[in-house]
Amino acid sequence: MKSDVLTSDLQILTGDCRELLPALPPESVQCCVTSPPYWGLRDYDHPSQIGAEPSPVKYVENLVEIFSKVKRILRKDGTLWLNVGDGYARNGGTGNCGPNAIVGNTKKLIQKRNCKVPNCWGLKDRDLMGLPWRVAFALQSDGWIFRSRITWVKKTAMPESVKNRPTNATEEIFLMSKSPTYYYNSDAVRETSGANLRNFWVLGPDTSGNGHPATFPRELARRCILLGSQTSDTILDPFGGSGTTGVVAQELNRRAILIEINPKYTKFSKERIRHDNPKILWL
Ligand SMILES: C[S@@+](CC[C@H](N)C(=O)[O-])C[C@H]1O[C@@H](n2cnc3c(N)ncnc32)[C@H](O)[C@@H]1O
Repeated sequence: MKSDVLTSDLQILTGDCRELLPALPPESVQCCVTSPPYWGLRDYDHPSQIGAEPSPVKYVENLVEIFSKVKRILRKDGTLWLNVGDGYARNGGTGNCGPNAIVGNTKKLIQKRNCKVPNCWGLKDRDLMGLPWRVAFALQSDGWIFRSRITWVKKTAMPESVKNRPTNATEEIFLMSKSPTYYYNSDAVRETSGANLRNFWVLGPDTSGNGHPATFPRELARRCILLGSQTSDTILDPFGGSGTTGVVAQELNRRAILIEINPKYTKFSKERIRHDNPKILWL
């Protein structure tokens, strides 16, 4: 662990979540809200990063291992809210044709992915890999109870220069529980009509940039946290990134633990949280 920044209500830990999760107390977290790196897409510039595995099979295995460590820390009535993205198997690509190939630091991994179709699952050139579902089913086999698939409909989709399929403008958020009965406050977020919240959420990107290439919208974290926890509960994000889960947890008077492997991003999170809450006292 390179640094460990604490307030009484917020911990930001720098390191590999596979090493840090075992140090957290069992059944101490109500709700895990997180988005791991998507396989073969962005380069987060760390040798132990998730998402850079040579095969998507290994990626799924790694996520199952990580979320079994999360399960130990989760309370019996706790939930996991997991956002995972998909991708295409490519063969002989130039590195300039992936969905995000020209954005930020994405080139390195996407070039690898575009070079050769992974030898698994019968994948062929241009096959959609179905990774979110493969992860969800693997977690289900590992004991998680798969309670909901929520489709995040993006108000602003990433442009794609494709002419042989529709542009992707959705991602999945999976709700998983540790036990058949679990804490879920259906009154905390409802449709404007007052009806029970539907399983598609139309959300725009946040306008404020924060130096991280793959943040999820604050409203996404807000909904998961409100539905899955009560005031003073602890929220975990083992792939903390720029700290969106922590920022929102603080706004909603929850405690939060964020783990992030790249110290550059833990620095961003601290700056962001300090900016939003200048009175915060770092211990
Ligand atoms: C998709 S981003 C998360 C973004 C975050 N939801 C936000 O809104 O800022 C995934 C993050 O996981 C981090 N990461 C990758 N492998 C990790 C590991 N083994 N342990 C902890 N963090 C890791 C990456 O550096 C990256 O910042």
